[in-house]
Amino acid sequence: DWTAGNVVAEQVERIRAQVGDARVICGLSGGVDSSVAAALVQRAVGDQLTCVFVDHGLLRAGEAEQVEQDFVAATGVQLKVVDAQERFLSALAGVTDPETKRKIIGREFIRVFEDAAREVVAEAGEEGGEVRFLVQGTLYPDVVESGGGEGAANIKSHHNVGGLPDDLQFELVEPLRTLFKDEVRAVGVELGVPDAIVWRQPFPGPGLGIRIIGEVTHDRLEILRAADAIAREELTRAGLDREVWQCPVVLLADVRSVGVQGDGRTYGHPVVLRPVSSEDAMTADWTRVPYEVLATISTRITNEVPEVNRVVLDVTSKPPGTIEWE
Ligand code: XMP
Repeated sequence: DWTAGNVVAEQVERIRAQVGDARVICGLSGGVDSSVAAALVQRAVGDQLTCVFVDHGLLRAGEAEQVEQDFVAATGVQLKVVDAQERFLSALAGVTDPETKRKIIGREFIRVFEDAAREVVAEAGEEGGEVRFLVQGTLYPDVVESGGGEGAANIKSHHNVGGLPDDLQFELVEPLRTLFKDEVRAVGVELGVPDAIVWRQPFPGPGLGIRIIGEVTHDRLEILRAADAIAREELTRAGLDREVWQCPVVLLADVRSVGVQGDGRTYGHPVVLRPVSSEDAMTADWTRVPYEVLATISTRITNEVPEVNRVVLDVTSKPPGTIEWE
């Protein structure tokens, strides 16, 4: 019968059989899949694994710390953190087109990860080892979607993963290949991965970079992070985390509107709340969040984030709207 404990035991054996005493590398994003995959491999081969976390500066409040501190404390993984915030901000300077932003973030991410992977490989070489394996958090639905199916599970993959260059060829370790999302969460809980990571809402790779409508700057990221943290806190407090699939908070950075605060006129920015309910993100409906909860979020954001003087609600289903604004 299916238990998370059985899955862990079985995968630990498989991983050991696959990698032997070779070294393994894993890119952590802060999301559920890569975190649980890394925790499983760590359980199997311990310090043969090195994780790489690229901090692109586009994460939400507390998320980098969740990876750098809580995840490391809970699992004991060896972690290499690359602080690439300045690099991403420079690359994004002056850019407002959504697709261009996505391409830039994707491109920079691969470059930074490649450099870090090379360093890990070089360091392992100095110790007489060789990094031969790359962990991927591929889930069963991903396998089915790409036409792999069950039988493909043992095929050695010599992918140029995510566009990695030819001198970095890895074999893939994919310990979540037979699992659905809810099973991955159960395995994560079994392995002691922190709740904040196991139950994290879907969050796009390009992060807050595509939730600032307009140019991405340091100051705008700070504003959005503060507003987003308040929305998340209040939705959690109201017990809505399971009903709400995700709730992007979007900063309309190039829009300003007049407001009044105390005795003074303000000329600030709106943020949009985009709470959606969904099964698989392919379609979605806007969540009927109770008015009192919306009121609390609105009051807190306009009180606590001085640059924001208006909170608006997105009441569009998908289709025709997408979940993210960019
Ligand atoms: P849309 O906006 O297309 O989003 O309705 C559907 C789901 O996908 C997430 N999303 C992404 N996830 N990389 C990701 O890993 C991305 O570039 C990306 N863009 C959107 C979005 O948050 C939603 O859950």
